[in-house]
Amino acid sequence: MASALPITPTDPDPSFAELLAGRPHLSMHALDGLMVEGVPLHRVAALAGTPTWVTSAGALRRRARALKAALAAAGLQAGIHYAVKANTGLAVLRVLAAEGLGADVVSEGELRAARAAGIPAAAIVFSGVGKTERELRLALAEDIAQINVESAEEVEMLSALATTLGRVARVALRVNPDVDAKTHAKITTGRSENKFGVAIDDAPALYARMAALPGLEPVGVATHIGSQITSGMAAYRAAYVRLAELVQALRLAGLPVKHVDCGGGLGIPYRDEPAPSPEALAGAIKATLGGLGLPVMLEPGRWIAGPPGLLLASVVLQKQGAARRFLVLDAAMNDLVRPAMYEAWHGILPVSPVDFVAPVGPADVVGPVCETGDTFARGRAMPSLSPGALVAFLDAGAYGAAMSSTYNMRPLAAEVLVDGDRFAVVRERQSYAALLGDQRLPDWLTE
Ligand code: LLP
Repeated sequence: MASALPITPTDPDPSFAELLAGRPHLSMHALDGLMVEGVPLHRVAALAGTPTWVTSAGALRRRARALKAALAAAGLQAGIHYAVKANTGLAVLRVLAAEGLGADVVSEGELRAARAAGIPAAAIVFSGVGKTERELRLALAEDIAQINVESAEEVEMLSALATTLGRVARVALRVNPDVDAKTHAKITTGRSENKFGVAIDDAPALYARMAALPGLEPVGVATHIGSQITSGMAAYRAAYVRLAELVQALRLAGLPVKHVDCGGGLGIPYRDEPAPSPEALAGAIKATLGGLGLPVMLEPGRWIAGPPGLLLASVVLQKQGAARRFLVLDAAMNDLVRPAMYEAWHGILPVSPVDFVAPVGPADVVGPVCETGDTFARGRAMPSLSPGALVAFLDAGAYGAAMSSTYNMRPLAAEVLVDGDRFAVVRERQSYAALLGDQRLPDWLTE
């Protein structure tokens, strides 16, 4: 990720005002401070406490519509299957379902969440390199739209299972196009050394095998080359060119291909890195796959859910260390793990209007967890903040709450949805009863 590069003096962080400017659902009110749509964040904190995830329904809708519009403008017949892993909140899924988005799921839990939010089975795709028999059974019982298979072994297993259950599984073959998406090593997926998909050279024979098996109906090919792709369209184009060649080869062999699943991965500007637009992605799809005359599917997660969400946290204390100033927050790496895990950069805005314009100096913004890795930002230009002051981590809607844990016995944070002037807690902060409640002591320790 470009955001992982060391920050040099010639490359200063964007100012608070610059961070706000690119995020239309956020604004700074002279009295009420930082607002999400029509809701001041201090009101959210008063109701729900901190740390709390806050999502703008309006921003979710705007982004879903912008992506649909870009695909339509390119003349593509396209279905969007939102990658549920990015944000699994039922309220988020419900907003996106109402926009007509389907779901890309990778586990039984995600399939259940998508169904619970009202996404029809006919709009659900199941991806993943290691679906269990139990998960495949559920997918077949629900009769979801498509299962993306990723290996010869899975092809045989799924056909046998479907036959036993008297079903025919609609399957797409995920191919690994062996292209470098030039993103963070932990989230690149389209290289031959990655675990995902089957080698493109093996795909024609496996697709023919899928067509011959009784429990399967091959419906297409799929790929996903990585996440947070900000390096332009070259990697996408390279992957889609290979996919188009594969589809032509399959057609020549008389094999049916109904659509092409183009995956997700579209990056967003966390800091000020240039990020590709949905129009650019639509153009790349049109230029490479358009000639096939087939409908396409997309599986975006971050591009839809990232910018609409933020993590609201409070300052516990400001500590002057020997060499640096530390802002210690009540949010930690168990809440937002992306900085610790991927060296990710997230904008951090003071919420109070006074703090927003106060003089800034370098500070390390950290959580209370007992690891040095529990650092959100180093040397970040921040004002002096008092205990209780609120800050907001920007663009935290994707892979934020979804990746959080209870490390250090810290309850999962609350979640709030903002919609215009309304807001509601859509997930209660986890209680200590729930945090402890599913543990048991064996008899022999309590005798
Ligand atoms: N489709 C498949 C098969 C995927 O594996 C993924 C993401 C997506 C779609 C959605 O990708 P997106 O549009 O969100 O880039 N936790 C990491 C990101 C991991 C992405 C995993 N797969 C992060 O916080 O950066």
